[in-house]
Amino acid sequence: MDRQEIINKTEYFVKEILSKDSTGHDWWHVHRVRNLAKRIALHEGADIFIVELAALLHDVGDYKFFQGDEKAGEMKVREWLASLEIPASLIDKIVGITSQISFMHTLPDKGKRKDKENSSAPTISKELMAVTDADRLDAMGAIGIARAFTYGGFFNRPIYDPNIKPSKFITKEKYKTTEAPSINHFYEKLLKLKDMMYTKLGRKMAKRRHRFLNLYLKQFFKEWKGKM
Ligand code: ADP
Ligand code: NI
Repeated sequence: MDRQEIINKTEYFVKEILSKDSTGHDWWHVHRVRNLAKRIALHEGADIFIVELAALLHDVGDYKFFQGDEKAGEMKVREWLASLEIPASLIDKIVGITSQISFMHTLPDKGKRKDKENSSAPTISKELMAVTDADRLDAMGAIGIARAFTYGGFFNRPIYDPNIKPSKFITKEKYKTTEAPSINHFYEKLLKLKDMMYTKLGRKMAKRRHRFLNLYLKQFFKEWKGKM
């Protein structure tokens, strides 16, 4: 099977799985991440084929689709790639990306106070950097805002509640189970992403999207207080 055929088949496979999702993991999110990741990969000199496949598959193995079972998601990606007769070494590289990409993996486990990237994380390839930056950028800016409220609405979260303060320290468990208002998510995740970019282009784009997040919050609180 040639590379284009592998990409086309994978695109179809992913569309089928994600077409029913409304938590922010829709096909158009994957479409944007794929395009952005390819653009970043070009700048970084990363392997475009690996980046494109990993970007397409990055949300298929998401823990949320498997009742929290991260390994089941990884197996699904592995099985799909094996069915395309992709060499095992390449499958490992792609799964290495799709299983590490989540923001949640950067959070400490319960009981551990550590708010930097997990120090035990394996070496980070250029391909992982490209896909991760693209995925994080899609959680920022105008689109990131739309996704946060879509997610919040789906899980019946209020927009904002001044009595519920954002958590300064958030663990993996808390990230998965939080029932906090959507605005809190800006402080618990979205505003942190700017400083988590791996690539030069990622950082440049994140800066602009971050500025927009701040602008939005400023306006939001002015309106909340009836000042505007
Ligand atoms: P990741 O793939 O980095 O783990 P998620 O799958 O957790 O990201 O999130 C998918 C989308 O939903 C992102 O845009 C994210 O910012 C948003 N989101 C996740 N958790 C919340 C939340 N508690 N409130 C509002 N938006 C959220
Ligand atoms: Ni994603």
